[in-house]
Amino acid sequence: MTFGWQSPSNIALVKYWGKRNPQLPSNPSISFTLDACHTKTQTTFTDGQGVRVLLDGQPAPNFVPKVQQFIERISPRHPWLQDYHLAISTHNSFPHSSGIASSASGLSALALCVVDMAMHLGQPLNAKDARQEASILARLGSGSASRSIYGGLVVWGGTPSVPGSDDHFALPYPHPVHPLFATFRDVVMLVDVGQKAVSSTAGHALMEGHPFAAQRFAQAHTHLARLQTILAEGDVGAFLDLVEGEALTLHGLMMSSSPSYLLMRPQTLAILEAIRVYRKETGLPIGFTLDAGANVHVLFPEEAEQKAMVFVKDVLAPFAKDGRFIADRIGAGPLPL
Ligand code: PMV
Repeated sequence: MTFGWQSPSNIALVKYWGKRNPQLPSNPSISFTLDACHTKTQTTFTDGQGVRVLLDGQPAPNFVPKVQQFIERISPRHPWLQDYHLAISTHNSFPHSSGIASSASGLSALALCVVDMAMHLGQPLNAKDARQEASILARLGSGSASRSIYGGLVVWGGTPSVPGSDDHFALPYPHPVHPLFATFRDVVMLVDVGQKAVSSTAGHALMEGHPFAAQRFAQAHTHLARLQTILAEGDVGAFLDLVEGEALTLHGLMMSSSPSYLLMRPQTLAILEAIRVYRKETGLPIGFTLDAGANVHVLFPEEAEQKAMVFVKDVLAPFAKDGRFIADRIGAGPLPL
């Protein structure tokens, strides 16, 4: 049996940073699901054992350990997997050398294929529905992947201001959202396209015993609650203010870890400063967020697109590696292939 899914990447607005076993977040997070940045994965299940991965039609043995670890982690929920060989054929829409992690899109696509196969076999799902089960499985592979199972704004991690929120799975943001957020843009400036100096796994671990951990985890709950009014009213100024603060806090936590480390590059800072100067001078609602890396996600509403793209091309692109960027937008979530 073969099942296929196209599943998107996502960018956190309130960041998940710090976790406890088994892959449960230390604080709640909320993200935009992306559109252009996605993974297409076909998974063929045959009798047997083991895993084979093809990336763009070529064998990719370096992906096998990560997939095997994922299968091991989800096997207690899906013991039938032990009787199957998985042939996984995958393609990322974004360039391999972009520094954009494919774990959220790749693991969510694979989780959706596994849930399809489980349903085909008539296996019980210990979740409300197929999507929730896929979110639980994706989370066990990579925390942020749990959010890629849905489109739009997605929350992962239990927090009092979001009814139904849970540490074990993500859910679509349940509160009213102003229409301007439905078409928000995210242009990813590719600053550093290599391997990260410190992985997210190591970064999460450094939150254990971090001197600011307790305050940070509490702050994420406060930010989720504050977003409720901002998102409902379409207050883009307050939105960008909160989201930029979250991005700088994430990197501030890295800089104040023990050992401390830096993932921003000089060009990252140059882009952040240029965005703030431009916003101040023009009043255009344009802001930024950062992943656990040097790339910058430039955020703005659709109505600002024309001017924002001129600014991106003329002013920001020269700071990016080879002038490269990916123009993306908020997306509708996974699609079966
Ligand atoms: O899902 P992981 O373990 O790769 O961690 C992702 C952490 C951040 O991207 C920095 C924040 C987030 O919420 O996605």
